[in-house]
Amino acid sequence: MLGHRDRVPGLGCVIETPIRRSPDLRATVAERQPAVEITSLDPADEAAIAQVARIVFDAFRGHTPAWPDLASAEAEVRESFAEGRLSRVARENGAVLGWIGGIRAYGGHAWELHPLAVDPARHREGIGRALVGDLERLVAERGATTLYLGTDDEDERTSLGGVDLYPDPLAHLANITSPGYHPYRFYLACGFSLVGVIPDANGPGRPDILMAKRVGTAGR
Ligand SMILES: CC(C)(COP(=O)(O)OP(=O)(O)OC[C@H]1O[C@@H](n2cnc3c(N)ncnc32)[C@H](O)[C@@H]1OP(=O)(O)O)[C@@H](O)C(=O)NCCC(=O)NCCS
Repeated sequence: MLGHRDRVPGLGCVIETPIRRSPDLRATVAERQPAVEITSLDPADEAAIAQVARIVFDAFRGHTPAWPDLASAEAEVRESFAEGRLSRVARENGAVLGWIGGIRAYGGHAWELHPLAVDPARHREGIGRALVGDLERLVAERGATTLYLGTDDEDERTSLGGVDLYPDPLAHLANITSPGYHPYRFYLACGFSLVGVIPDANGPGRPDILMAKRVGTAGR
């Protein structure tokens, strides 16, 4: 699991390298391996932008038509530099391992998490969870109470895909299952709640599953 080793507000945080070893090996490996660092993606860092685009393309390939090529993935990365956005990367020895974006919404009370992708070669190492935790901290610092997201089911990886959710979409949502793996389970593991579903958001039988998490107590 990843753990925060040090934090520098505004500059990002240094986190321990993910380790999936026996407890006995853990200390030695942790000492040997370099740290994974989460920082803001620099709009002038063309090499990092290209790496992020590659990760987006690879991570979503086969699951959504949103980024059919590297050019569309790169355009998505460049959109993350707009006003009211956050764009953060996890890096190890300079190489990008994952990317998360945040979009200010609802007058700043809530931020949308969009997008999130981890290098498929580095899944299940805690990098996604660390990126989400980093974004939670940043939006809470900006006064937000809520981080939310939509996670599409475009390829029937959940019980909500490929069926007509009307007349009671919330009943379907309450009984959601996923025989294989769908990222809503990742977000549940990160402490998000299922808060809604938009039937047919991506075409008939392809819903968007809405999730949210309280990240701050501003104004309460
Ligand atoms: C979703 C995604 C970002 C998760 O990143 P990750 O670094 O692999 O996730 P983590 O290692 O931090 O996993 C945290 C927890 O989520 C759950 N989880 C993650 N991947 C899982 C999988 N394939 N199967 C079951 N549970 C999973 C587990 O509970 C895991 O904790 P554990 O490993 O201690 O059991 C990654 O799978 C990805 O990039 N997917 C493709 C793009 C995508 O779907 N993005 C989200 C769109 S909304």
